Amino acid sequence: MTIEWNEKFSVSNTAIDAEHKSLFDALNSFYQGVQSGASNESLAALLTKLADYAATHFRSEEIFMKKIGFPELDRHKQEHQAFAEKIGGFLESYNSGKAPASFEVTHFIMDWIVNHIKREDMKYAKFSQGR
Ligand SMILES: [Fe+2]
Ligand SMILES: [Fe+2]
Repeated sequence: MTIEWNEKFSVSNTAIDAEHKSLFDALNSFYQGVQSGASNESLAALLTKLADYAATHFRSEEIFMKKIGFPELDRHKQEHQAFAEKIGGFLESYNSGKAPASFEVTHFIMDWIVNHIKREDMKYAKFSQGR
């Protein structure tokens, strides 16, 4: 299983599309680790990369939404925050030796990213085009 970016994910912003592609890459790397039976330490490192990348992406998306005056910015920020907290929880588990089920972690992240882009990110994409 790998997640491939395609035009259906496009938010009509080249820079943000590129960030989403990198986020997909980070998830694919994590999943490769899961599949190859990497140690919890390695998985935690891969997940940390993903979390750091997501944080950077969320920040840049929030700056963009603010710039265009997107009315649902607060709600959208809360979704980003909830994701960050969930990943933080997974990381704590890996780091404390109570490793979570890594396939479930992968599925959670994949579902979240796909749904978030298609439902939430698309809203600011539409808004930015309709201005
Ligand atoms: Fe996004
Ligand atoms: Fe977002």
